[in-house]
Amino acid sequence: MAKATIRDIDVKDKRCFCRVDFNVPMKDGRITDDSRIRAALPTIEYLAARGAKVILASHLGRPKGKVVPELRLDAVALRLSELLGMKVIKLNDCVGPEVSVYVSGMSPGSVVLLENVRFYPGEEKNDPDFARDMASLADIFVNDAFGAAHRAHASTAGIAAYIPAYAGLLMEKEVEALGRLLENPERPFTAVIGGAKVSDKLAVLKNLLDRVDNLLIGGGMANTFLMAQGHAVGKSLAEPSMVDEARAILEKASLGGKKVLLPVDVVVARSPEAGVPASVVEAGEIPDDMMALDIGPGARKEYVSAVRSSKTVFWNGPLGVFEVEPFRGGTLEMAAALAGVTGFTVVGGGDSLSAIEMSGLRDKIDHLSTGGGASLEFLEGRELPGVSVLIERN
Ligand code: 3PG
Repeated sequence: MAKATIRDIDVKDKRCFCRVDFNVPMKDGRITDDSRIRAALPTIEYLAARGAKVILASHLGRPKGKVVPELRLDAVALRLSELLGMKVIKLNDCVGPEVSVYVSGMSPGSVVLLENVRFYPGEEKNDPDFARDMASLADIFVNDAFGAAHRAHASTAGIAAYIPAYAGLLMEKEVEALGRLLENPERPFTAVIGGAKVSDKLAVLKNLLDRVDNLLIGGGMANTFLMAQGHAVGKSLAEPSMVDEARAILEKASLGGKKVLLPVDVVVARSPEAGVPASVVEAGEIPDDMMALDIGPGARKEYVSAVRSSKTVFWNGPLGVFEVEPFRGGTLEMAAALAGVTGFTVVGGGDSLSAIEMSGLRDKIDHLSTGGGASLEFLEGRELPGVSVLIERN
């Protein structure tokens, strides 16, 4: 990557302000998925092993500039201590005299975690004073928070105005893997895009359409595309206001010789609940009182075959209501198909990652992106503020 990383410098004895994305899902004070903490370990271990003083900062949730006790990072510090095999102290602030005193007493190789940066109103406002106060704790800024790199906040971007900024190892890996999709992907290149809404993914659909050979559409957003083809979708989730956009994508694809697959059949039920009777109908035959809740067996066969014969595959978004057992078949079959691809596979987005975890196939995917919004914005072709502030390699 063109940006300088921590491997380009000597970090010994340096105080490193390392922004990580520990925005992990929590339930009743417990972490339900620690993938993001694990993903940051290589950078933390690299810095600590080379004698840096590692000052970690992260957000958790959206406390909007106020202290929200449930969003404190204590549980994260505990889990991090377990994973690193060393005690990680968590402070109760990000700036101020107590933090400065603690940091000035740190020994090389030690790690400390600051409190949730979003407890400070200056974080999301990218307030220069808050950024400068955080920068004053350190000699260098290391950004390893790819998941938050699409945010121009004080700890992801603003701080780089005051101390030299380097990419962490996760940031480097993410930018390289996602960059490989945009620049010279091995062909055929297939993108599988699911999830609820076309409006959430419109920009990425448009940008990917120029680059892929096949675009496979599933999830609630497929219903909007079915409407664009003139089908009635009953009570299915759909966005009538996006039908013209969906039609424009289909037309552009056909002009460009791209293959767009929409479900030829769907699993329908009266509601997305376990235990309700479900059946399979052709995509053009969704009854007025039914909802399409998963792609059907005919569609799965076509999608799996397109994915299996691809050399590069990107997947974002579930193909059905995969949280509910009767409607997760399409999504799980897609997870298995990706695992069987011999080419380069990338999965991004929380729900698709959960589906990969559910299938126990995480080791078979080349890159699991820790970024939801960040990976989509990257693939939209946008420059991410947390990446653009990093210094160039030369
Ligand atoms: C994420 O979970 O996608 C990142 O941590 C960013 O969180 P945010 O959407 O609250 O900025």
